[in-house]
Amino acid sequence: MAQECVLVLDFGGQYKQLIARRVRECNVYCEIIPYTTPLDEIKARNPKGIILTGGPASVYAEDSPTYSADLFECGIPVLGICYGSQLMAYRCGGEVKTAPVSEYGHTKVAIQALDSKLFTSVETDSDGVTSCWMSHTDYIAKAPAGFEITASTGNCPVAAMENADRKLYAVQFHPEVLHTPEGTKMIRNFVMDICGCSGDWRMSSFAETTIKELREKIGDGKVLCALSGGVDSSVCAVLLSKAIGKQLTCVFVDHGLLRKDEGDEVERVFGPEGPYELNFVRVNAQDYFYSKLAGVTEPEEKRKIIGAEFINVFEKEAKKIGAVDFLAQGTIYPDVVESGIGKGATIKSHHNVGGLPDHVDFKEIVEPLRPLFKDEVRQVGLELGIPANLVYRQPFPGPGLGIRIIGEVTAEKVKIVQEADYIYRSELEKAGIDMGKGQFFAALTNMRSVGVMGDERTYDYAIALRGVITSDFMTAEAAEIPWNVLQICMNRIINEVKGVNRVLYDLTSKPPGTIELE
Ligand code: XMP
Repeated sequence: MAQECVLVLDFGGQYKQLIARRVRECNVYCEIIPYTTPLDEIKARNPKGIILTGGPASVYAEDSPTYSADLFECGIPVLGICYGSQLMAYRCGGEVKTAPVSEYGHTKVAIQALDSKLFTSVETDSDGVTSCWMSHTDYIAKAPAGFEITASTGNCPVAAMENADRKLYAVQFHPEVLHTPEGTKMIRNFVMDICGCSGDWRMSSFAETTIKELREKIGDGKVLCALSGGVDSSVCAVLLSKAIGKQLTCVFVDHGLLRKDEGDEVERVFGPEGPYELNFVRVNAQDYFYSKLAGVTEPEEKRKIIGAEFINVFEKEAKKIGAVDFLAQGTIYPDVVESGIGKGATIKSHHNVGGLPDHVDFKEIVEPLRPLFKDEVRQVGLELGIPANLVYRQPFPGPGLGIRIIGEVTAEKVKIVQEADYIYRSELEKAGIDMGKGQFFAALTNMRSVGVMGDERTYDYAIALRGVITSDFMTAEAAEIPWNVLQICMNRIINEVKGVNRVLYDLTSKPPGTIELE
């Protein structure tokens, strides 16, 4: 590999993605690879350094993930973290034992070797103590010969050790998590000073290199891309358009469950009037989807119908195009990691609503965004000149408004929720609420209640406004939106959206709620 890179060898650690993130923050390309990767393969990648992750196993357990001692002899700098540190100690002739006292959480670590390259500029109190995040039951009881103990805690004699001549470094704590305030510095020290990386990985160079690689790979082949209007598929489409122009066909299925004006916005950017060279096909399948959803109220059934019909419509359109050489997917790195490193390309179903089409005639999949994290995809998008409102679009589920309308979906209800959602998000934007911290949308409850407007009795729907703060979408808290902003939203929605006479704010966190209402 010509480009500088650091490899993260995965032993089952839950923070592996964070390690990769921290390395990328140094502008050094980083990839997570399984611990089963043979050393020859690792060497062939010519990495500047290797980081061993933590993991739940014990190095002495029979089926524990392990690696040959040759890894520590091949001259490549290695940083072992938690389980990785124990493995290094074990393989290099030290001793690993069950710790008499396990350490979990914030732990005071005394750094004995402040001149260690790993700890350059790390801030400590006057006793050389810094706070680190620990999570271990085994520990290094005895460092291997030739290793210096560089840090310890009251319960852990070897919280860090190193053999600087062999460029082998180990830490029992987790420098990659934010709970270790000086941890980012330690990783930077390893990557830049110990591995000697220059930090030349840039998004502009990523875009340039990827376009070149796509051109070489695709040659004069034909590519089909399912465009959803979300950031991943949009960036994927623009990269391909820059690489192969009209050899690319993007099919955009408008299922009528998009946010207000979204279909037209996608067409403006990617259609014939837009700046990109490609074949753009918009399938206006709104009425088709509404007819398939008529009378259906059960959430899972709705999801299944939307997913299956999406594939149906997409396939029908693809058949008109005929055989293609490649199917383009906007898979990004977290999808790859979640679907299991080393298990091959399991494509997550949520990419294009219902999964990968079975009946499209293609030879290979291209996934140009596969190495990138979400914020990196956004950066590439901006580099490529994609409008910022598209690049920073709120996450939106594949089944769209179909799962934000409780009960039966109708064209009338879609219109109501689109309008309410548009007002809500515009007012939040006006009030300077940072929607990037989570997800903000309106949903239509299936509840009608009595109200009075003018002198008239009304019997209309209630809109639920939802706002959650989350970083991983697995857990979430209701956002504290200022009362006056909520009141403006309520007033506008009731006055401007026909069919609504009540507005509720959903306070439920996740768990027990989910972010979407269905
Ligand atoms: P829940 O409702 O499960 O949502 O708390 C968590 C996150 O996932 C999104 N979501 C989906 N995304 N297809 C998607 O592409 C889906 O079927 C789907 N369901 C939920 C949701 O918007 C939130 O960001």
